[in-house]
Amino acid sequence: MKTIIEPFRIHAVEPLRMATPEHWRRCIAEAGYNLFSLRADDVLIDLLTDSGTGAMSRDQWAAVQHGDESYAGSPSWFAFRDAVTSLFPFRHVIPTHQGRAAEKILFSVGGGPGKVIPNNTHFDTTRANVEFTGAEAVDLVIAEGRDPRNRHPFKGNVDLDALEALIIRVGRDNVPLVMVTITNNSGGGQPVSLGNLRHVREVCDRFGLPLFLDACRFAENAWFIREREEDQSGRDVADIVREMASLADGMTMSAKKDPMANIGGWLACNDDALAEACRSMLIMTEGFPTYGGLAGRDLEAIAQGLREAVSHDYLRYRIRSTAYLGEALERCGIPVVVPIGGHAVYIDAGALLEHIPPLEYPGQSLAVALYEAGGIRSCEIGSVMFGRRPDGSERPAAMELVRLAIPRRAYTQSHIDYVIEVCESVAAGAPGLSCMKLVSEPSRLRHFTARFEPRLTVA
Ligand SMILES: Cc1ncc(COP(=O)(O)O)c(C=O)c1O
Repeated sequence: MKTIIEPFRIHAVEPLRMATPEHWRRCIAEAGYNLFSLRADDVLIDLLTDSGTGAMSRDQWAAVQHGDESYAGSPSWFAFRDAVTSLFPFRHVIPTHQGRAAEKILFSVGGGPGKVIPNNTHFDTTRANVEFTGAEAVDLVIAEGRDPRNRHPFKGNVDLDALEALIIRVGRDNVPLVMVTITNNSGGGQPVSLGNLRHVREVCDRFGLPLFLDACRFAENAWFIREREEDQSGRDVADIVREMASLADGMTMSAKKDPMANIGGWLACNDDALAEACRSMLIMTEGFPTYGGLAGRDLEAIAQGLREAVSHDYLRYRIRSTAYLGEALERCGIPVVVPIGGHAVYIDAGALLEHIPPLEYPGQSLAVALYEAGGIRSCEIGSVMFGRRPDGSERPAAMELVRLAIPRRAYTQSHIDYVIEVCESVAAGAPGLSCMKLVSEPSRLRHFTARFEPRLTVA
């Protein structure tokens, strides 16, 4: 059959709050035109993020009941550690309350002024945690990865020549580690091939540098490898994940993505001295090493979620349902990043709203319009998120995208059909959408709390 159905049926439901465009217009104005500042009750379809927003399974909720809240040595810790190391066999696993806490610890230990961290594309919190230490975050995705219309199958790949040139230019002693984000969230949710990871490993070996994975969407990345990479078809996803891990020296992780937990993360590595330094930080900022920033019940939910994340039936449905939305938008003539990524569809707002210059934030304008028209919350990934530099100057981001992130197992096909209809109607009126003007912004991660106002343009 052509139809790939949800490999589950619904066991508990949560009401949505239906409302009208007048209501949504009032809410977004009160929120300073920042979608992060809305009350979630005022959102009809929430595609802000796939992070922590998935539906946990019956078996995850059952696992929650097994949560043991002992301060030290809880059985839930061992269940968590065993589930993590069955996929990522690193010597040290350090639980954290979410991915950015793992980043904070890793870069507090390994970053600092004069250091340079290469990545395919740093996620916003990764970049912020690198820059907070005074280090520089450098994005080295392949050129195809910066072209929304290029159909390269692995647009998250690292530009190997650029990586090597950077290490030579700044000196290997100034590069504490090389990072690769799988899938590449800020670059369109695009996968990294196993071949590219092997080559990055070779570059790291040549310079004696550790390689870390930002592995939030490891299962989706592995599914793309299985589907798209030569000699990988038919391979077990868990086995591909283990091979990806074997190429790295460590990882940071947000368990709110592929492991389908509502909270959690970890840092893992093989280096004993690094692990010891990180555990000392963990105890100061997160908690004892057998729970980190988590309750025993969270550790259990993550352990079970990890087993479900590598199910082929689940991943086939997951990747197909994201493509369903992306392909429908393409058919409506809406420019989207292709091929469609794993966890989200990215509308190319720069192309759709050509009349709005990057520093008048076409992505923000489109995100606001989708909410006003249909109560859909999306996320700008463009110059609002990445435009402000550490020296205070402002520069356009590489792309002006609006991300429609799909929470795992949460919305049905008819919800997505509604999203398609809203996008089509907003795109039809795109030339009339307003520029956005920044009214206030904090000094870091401004997209979370900045306030805007629309500035009318002549269409
Ligand atoms: C690629 C990537 N890295 C790191 C993070 C940070 O994880 P968390 O939100 O759990 O702190 C995210 C979250 O969206 C992400 O997508």
